[in-house]
Amino acid sequence: MRLALLALVLLALVISNHPIDARHKGEENWKQRYRKWKEAEEQTHHHDVLIGTDEAAAARVQDEHNDVNNDGLSEKELWRQRIEAKKQRQSQWQASDGKQEGRPMSDITAWHEEKWRRKQERHYKTVPHDLQRQKRHQTRELKLEGESSGKFVRKSPPPHTKVAEMARYIVHNSDWAAVAYTSRQPETFGLPMADIFSISDGLVDNSTGVPYMYISPLDTGVQDLAKDSRCSLAMSLAQGNYCKQEGLDPEDPRCAHVFLTGKLKTVKNGTEEFARAEKLFFDRHPKLRNMPKDHRFRFAKLKISNILVQDYFGGPAHIPLAEYFAAKPEEFNPSKTRPVPEVDAELIPGASSSDSEKWLRPIE
Ligand SMILES: *[C@@H]1O[C@H](CO)[C@@H](O)[C@H](O)[C@H]1NC(C)=O
Ligand SMILES: *[C@@H]1O[C@H](CO)[C@@H](O)[C@H](O)[C@H]1NC(C)=O
Repeated sequence: MRLALLALVLLALVISNHPIDARHKGEENWKQRYRKWKEAEEQTHHHDVLIGTDEAAAARVQDEHNDVNNDGLSEKELWRQRIEAKKQRQSQWQASDGKQEGRPMSDITAWHEEKWRRKQERHYKTVPHDLQRQKRHQTRELKLEGESSGKFVRKSPPPHTKVAEMARYIVHNSDWAAVAYTSRQPETFGLPMADIFSISDGLVDNSTGVPYMYISPLDTGVQDLAKDSRCSLAMSLAQGNYCKQEGLDPEDPRCAHVFLTGKLKTVKNGTEEFARAEKLFFDRHPKLRNMPKDHRFRFAKLKISNILVQDYFGGPAHIPLAEYFAAKPEEFNPSKTRPVPEVDAELIPGASSSDSEKWLRPIE
């Protein structure tokens, strides 16, 4: 009995001494995975071969038989090279001064990029292409298509001769505006300051021309505007697709801008206007509907006193308020696209007169 036990213990010792260390095991694993992958590769190869001519197929089969792949390397050699490459990669990030410094930054970045790329790839495989497009450009067009008329209508900007219509068009099609006001914050007290507010001037097919906002007094811009409500709103055609499509720089006067000056007024809760503002604002900015209660969001609108439109060359145009409110941006033929106006050299200041020298002279 004792002898038998001793024999068992000895046997166990012999087995456990078998030189399979962790590294070796790892390589074994890797070999196995590689073999599996290779087999799968060969299977597809085989299928490809069957599609080709008989002669090519025969040659390929012969190659496979000789254990030689396309590059003329034997499978063993290929495998050895892969192991070597892997070892080299590992030693690169372990080598520096014997200290474990970790992988170099470029490696990590490359890894993250690859991971992100694969994630995108998976995403694009599962999400239909036109849905992806909509998601990437999730602007008003999505709304136009979905909720309003049920029909996708993309209206083109009016011609540059229709200045009031252009002002209405930009205000109506802007989802946000840059708001300029006078700062009351300690660091910039008394200086001009700008903020970005989401705006909506009406439902998709029913614009009012008055930009409505939904703002919180936690915003420093709103705090300053509470003390001095005078401000100017700047909006540009560059917020839509038109300028990009026509290759117009945002500073190009043909990529029109509109500047509304006036005072910011809050809209009283419980009034008819409040209900209207709520409807038209959240129609375009549904994500702002559920703002935290303690941020005390409220509706505001711009009481417009002056309108400037920069469209085409020759300086900005003043639009009388009555003309602005009488114009309708919805009435333009949606199927007609606005042609990019030609450059009229005579209207560019200094371009065709001796004034140009003044512009070119360096500042003294
Ligand atoms: C457009 O809005 C105004 C109020 O701003 C309303 O009186 C009018 O009926 C609306 N028109 C349409 C077609 O919805
Ligand atoms: C308006 O008043 C109603 C009822 O008092 C309240 O539930 C709502 O939160 C108020 N909305 C805003 C934006 O102040």
